[in-house]
Amino acid sequence: MITRKQLIEEYLGFFKEKEHAIIPPSPLIPEHDPTVLFTTAGMHPLVPFLLGQPHPEGKRLADVQICLRTDDMNEVGDAYHHTFFEMLGNWSLGDYWKKEAISWSFEFLTKRLRIPVEKLAISCFGGEGKVPKDEEAAKVWMSLGIPRERIAFLGKKENWWGPAGKTGPCGPDTEMFVWIGKEKAPKEFDPKDKKWVEIWNDVFMQYNMKENGELEELKQKNVDTGMGVERVLAILNNFDDNYLTEIFAPIIKRIEELSGKKYESNKKSMRIIADHLKAATFVLAEGIPPGNKEHSYVLRRLIRRAIRHAHLLRIEKNFTKEIAKIVIRLYERDYKQLREKKNFILDEIEREENKFKNTLKTGLKYFEKISKGKKEISGKEAFLLYQSYGFPIEMTLELAREKGVEVNTKEFEKEYEKHRELSRTATKGKFKAGLADTKERTIKLHTATHLLLAALRKVLGKKIVQKGSNITSERLRFDFNFDRKLTNEEIKKIEGIVNEKISEGLQVRREEMTLEEAKKLNALGTFEHKYGEKVSVYFIGERGKEFSIEICAGPHVENTRELGHFRIIKQESVGAGIRRIKATLEEK
Ligand code: ALA
Repeated sequence: MITRKQLIEEYLGFFKEKEHAIIPPSPLIPEHDPTVLFTTAGMHPLVPFLLGQPHPEGKRLADVQICLRTDDMNEVGDAYHHTFFEMLGNWSLGDYWKKEAISWSFEFLTKRLRIPVEKLAISCFGGEGKVPKDEEAAKVWMSLGIPRERIAFLGKKENWWGPAGKTGPCGPDTEMFVWIGKEKAPKEFDPKDKKWVEIWNDVFMQYNMKENGELEELKQKNVDTGMGVERVLAILNNFDDNYLTEIFAPIIKRIEELSGKKYESNKKSMRIIADHLKAATFVLAEGIPPGNKEHSYVLRRLIRRAIRHAHLLRIEKNFTKEIAKIVIRLYERDYKQLREKKNFILDEIEREENKFKNTLKTGLKYFEKISKGKKEISGKEAFLLYQSYGFPIEMTLELAREKGVEVNTKEFEKEYEKHRELSRTATKGKFKAGLADTKERTIKLHTATHLLLAALRKVLGKKIVQKGSNITSERLRFDFNFDRKLTNEEIKKIEGIVNEKISEGLQVRREEMTLEEAKKLNALGTFEHKYGEKVSVYFIGERGKEFSIEICAGPHVENTRELGHFRIIKQESVGAGIRRIKATLEEK
């Protein structure tokens, strides 16, 4: 039995003996590389040093690095694929080369981890394009006692690594495999045999991939290695499933309790929940909230996919927070960001769960309807699932795959672009909607006006309607039917409600419909004569529980959280039975 802690200590201790500086892990979000969203390998934060910049700690480094890979998110669900994982690595920045790197890998595997040589197999680069077959690496392996039959030469697809982004350091690699079968390992290495499991990768980073895809020799020859903690831990402890190791078992156990179901018969969904929420917890720990762009969108996809699989397990109560708490407990000693951001993580994950839980059920019903007896779901339908039910397109694709239905993704993309174009046009001011100007602040104040009207109706009664509105980038001005001065208490209450709705991070949704349909929804709107056949209606809040529904041409923000702090600055009377409020938004 070896624990995660022992494995990491053993590894870093070994390379310290070999004169490596042990460096602290970098954040999960790369600080200097805008071409990729997440750190995908231990070498990623070291790119400038692999390219030749001197590292302050020297030419030999080792660490354990948190990584996130979303490329094969769909593979998660089997015994060993993960989005989030920890990678052990050691580096030579123009210092040692193949002989030392391979000898140390061999020594660590056989002496420190005590894996018998009989259970090891190796793959080396077989040569492709301008880069020759890596006989040099194979010779080192043979000199250490690996028989020729246990060495396979493979192509670029298998034995080439990098660059991590679009350009950068890369090169041929040599991979180490361990036999996990109960029976004796076969004499000859067959890389297709699933009982040979990859345990470590030594990359010889001798090249730089240029923008045009060409390779050029780097100034220095580097070594970059990577060993996944999750997998090694499983192998060393004789598990054929990474989710049985100590870094997943407590999560799986909690999912079993919450669902009242056994892991044995629900492996796929439980693995997806465990993997995705672990990843989500670490992304949240970087201070990123769920949303519709970049990191936030990946985070949203992770959380929402976990929620759908929890739905398959019939978990009714909120559960994401429970899982996040376990993840924090498992890793907080090593990653202080989990401790520091604990409240943010727990609040945001539950907020996202609440937001998606309601639309998930109705969205699934809608999906059933549009896919029943069909071969293909149209892009418009997929877009509606995205826009109105919050289904990331990847989720619709997964549902469709499960049902054997196609999705017209081309049309989806068109719809998506069209919508983006529409909101861009809106911000450019082509949809003026009576605004004095359309700078970002006025858009925010416009959304705040909707919240204000809904709050007024809550505090002063349903008879309140809009009698006039004017917005500048400084303030909103709102007139409504009321025949006395508001008390300080009422003002405070109204401000309080608006700020509560802002901090709830409610989604703002736009839908087109006929005026009749809008009226049926009790949408507010005073300018009926202005509208044509179809009206656009803005919804603020969860579907079915909207805080505000108004007929309006927009534009609006996407989420109330963008608004800042709402403050009423003035109230006055403007004629019989009409009151006026002026209010503003301040930075939080
Ligand atoms: N960068 C190499 C990998 O990720 C070591 O496998």
